[in-house]
Amino acid sequence: MLRRLYHDQPESFAFTPANLAWAEAQITKYPEGRQASAIIPLLWRAQEQEGWLSRPAIEQIADMLGMAYIRALEVATFYFMFQLQPVGSVAHIQICGTLSCMICGAEDLIGVCREKIADKAHTLSADGKFSWEEVECLGACSNAPMAQIGKDYYEDLTAARLVEILDELAAGKVPVPGPQNGRFAAEPLSGLTSLKDYESGRKQYNASAQRAVDLGDTVKRIDGTEVPLLTPWRTGGAGKAATAEAEEQVAPAATTAPTAEDAVGRQPEGLKAARDDHPDDLKQIKGVGPKLQDLLNSMGFFHFDQIAAWGPDEVAWVDENLKGFKGRVSRDTWVDQAKILAKGGETAFSARVKKGDVYE
Ligand code: FES
Repeated sequence: MLRRLYHDQPESFAFTPANLAWAEAQITKYPEGRQASAIIPLLWRAQEQEGWLSRPAIEQIADMLGMAYIRALEVATFYFMFQLQPVGSVAHIQICGTLSCMICGAEDLIGVCREKIADKAHTLSADGKFSWEEVECLGACSNAPMAQIGKDYYEDLTAARLVEILDELAAGKVPVPGPQNGRFAAEPLSGLTSLKDYESGRKQYNASAQRAVDLGDTVKRIDGTEVPLLTPWRTGGAGKAATAEAEEQVAPAATTAPTAEDAVGRQPEGLKAARDDHPDDLKQIKGVGPKLQDLLNSMGFFHFDQIAAWGPDEVAWVDENLKGFKGRVSRDTWVDQAKILAKGGETAFSARVKKGDVYE
């Protein structure tokens, strides 16, 4: 199947502030120079927010990761999990059409989708609320036939039950996911034949369905205000919520330079421009990539000796004020590296940068 960008694209794309903070937290999982590794989670988050991936979304994410647009487009068009055209405003229905489901009635489910949504897959229903597609095995074969709707599985389906589910969704309800024929999980339809001791203490739904009910976000577009992502790698193991950092990072970004009151530590003295118009290549410091170098230059730091002179107070200030890269100075020991480089020495990393092994 040809996977192309949709013919009618929106003008722009923007992550919600909380999703932006989440995305920035994902990027910090990877070492400087390897930010492109975050491409799939960021594309997925954009899709969770909008329902599908538009060209502006793909290009914005490429910009965030310092990637050529074509590289991001290659990823988005390669993986079938990415929707390249608008999906239903309420739900996108993914019917499993692989062996077990096909034997057990998937064709009837597809017939329902054709009749109630649109004759062709990846087409919006007349009211724009639904879309559908046939997908490969979703790994719930013992509960065939099944469909993924939003984030959850609806299993042991019949055509009649799928009709009801679509009607409930259209009415603003979210039917309970999981088996739809009275089964608890994947036990025999006639009842348990073993492990009966555990039957009495169990919850109303199996663990997956119970979790889906508890979260209640089956068909919700994700705006970043849901369950917070813990980012212990950013806080020395303390475990901080990325969404909490959203307020911390996104709000100040709306303002310009940090003020004296909100500064931590002491602001190092910066320069208006590089001496002799000849800045050092700060990317030779492990942990400083092209974006961080630009940021440092904009703060008045152009030379290794400037960074080498920072004491604990200056490090604290810069760590606090590197928007989107908080804590990088101490995490990546910039000062120690800068002391070597300022004296004309070399580190293993700076040697690789000079050879052109790190940056294109
Ligand atoms: S065949 Fe449908 S879930 Fe595996």
